[in-house]
Amino acid sequence: MRLHDDFPVSPIANIWLDTGTGSFTEPKIYAVQTGTKTVLRCIAMTTDPGDLVFDPTCGSGTTAFCAEKLGRRWITCDTSRVAINVARQRLLSATFEHYKTRNGKVSGNFIYKTVNRVTLKSLAYDLEPEKVELVDQPEVERDAIRVCGPFEVMSLGRYSVEDWKGYVVREAAATYGEPAKLENYIETICRLYRKNAAIQGASGLVHAVAETEQEKIAISVGPLSGRVTARQINDAVQDALASGILEVHVLGWAFEANVGEVKSALEKRGKIKVQLIMIRPDTLAEGLKATQPEMLFSPLALPDIEIETEKNGKDKLVRVTLKGVALFDRKRRTTECKRADSGYVSAWYLDEDYDGDCFVDCQMFFDFKKAPNIKAALKAEVDPEEFTLTLTSEPFPVRGYKRIAVKVVDVYGNESTVVRELP
Ligand SMILES: C[S@@+](CC[C@H](N)C(=O)[O-])C[C@H]1O[C@@H](n2cnc3c(N)ncnc32)[C@H](O)[C@@H]1O
Repeated sequence: MRLHDDFPVSPIANIWLDTGTGSFTEPKIYAVQTGTKTVLRCIAMTTDPGDLVFDPTCGSGTTAFCAEKLGRRWITCDTSRVAINVARQRLLSATFEHYKTRNGKVSGNFIYKTVNRVTLKSLAYDLEPEKVELVDQPEVERDAIRVCGPFEVMSLGRYSVEDWKGYVVREAAATYGEPAKLENYIETICRLYRKNAAIQGASGLVHAVAETEQEKIAISVGPLSGRVTARQINDAVQDALASGILEVHVLGWAFEANVGEVKSALEKRGKIKVQLIMIRPDTLAEGLKATQPEMLFSPLALPDIEIETEKNGKDKLVRVTLKGVALFDRKRRTTECKRADSGYVSAWYLDEDYDGDCFVDCQMFFDFKKAPNIKAALKAEVDPEEFTLTLTSEPFPVRGYKRIAVKVVDVYGNESTVVRELP
């Protein structure tokens, strides 16, 4: 017979057999979502209220959600925009129990349920049993509820540069007069976009000309570490027209928010057709191996909005209505416009005074999917309509930049932004 203490080993006595219950029946909003029970327990075991929790793989934001629930501060990040959008919506639509605090501050700690630790010693000596706090069971203030505290979402849209470093190997010919990296980068993107693109003959911001029996298009590629600007589109169009080409495709990783207006203005003048094409962020990591490289590109789809103004005494008030969203079908390679109320909009955000650079969420609209149970805490009924997607904004005054931006997230997690000057 062999016993445990024959060896320098010890039995595993802390297997969590209960974390599956509940976790597996929680509704999933992300394919690889972690159960909250496990994460809550880890946070409660290892941190105190007010501490900072970091999860570098946010996914649907379970760690941030659990940290928020337990009064911890949090930071999280993810390489996927879909994950960030899912997590943002999850946090914004969550309600949490309000826990009793010791001194009115979360950092002063919660008041927890306690139990008596009765030991043989306490019984034998008739000692007062030790009081033990259950740090995963804070006492709940039934008259109040909490929503998520304020948080910022920041994006770093330039990670494509890092991917690229592994692929640029060829030196540029001396005659090109351009750095090797740039030359190869543009060439590779053009070849992925149109295998038969003829690089020769390109001039200025037209980087390649693709000519087949069906089409003759000028291709302009946006910078690897920045956004396609209105200026690039304008210049590419001028360069294309100078070569007698009437269709320009501008490919980019990211676009300045006003490019939709620039495209319409150019097309309104007649003659030229402009296509704005989004390059998939993981193109350089995955794309060069892809058997269908055309799947790496999709037309930049802009939301359809309507702006109404009304007078309020001296002030001018504006309301924005989201009318539609453009959805790209990767299989059929077509973009379809869907009405905003047809279930394809997951959330939309309004910057009432867009500075042209940093999008600030002034108004946010999304579907809660399930109305939170806040009747007891508020001691009032809330109209269930309040928790469904609203398509018209609250009125707001025209401010300094006289410009708004609307960002729409569709049900697939794709974001698109449209910018409008206010009248
Ligand atoms: C298993 S999921 C996390 C699930 C999360 N705990 C939840 O409950 O939803 C892993 C996440 O890590 C992200 N990811 C993968 N590689 C990454 C990286 N290098 N940096 C940041 N995030 C990454 C993926 O996009 C994915 O959303």
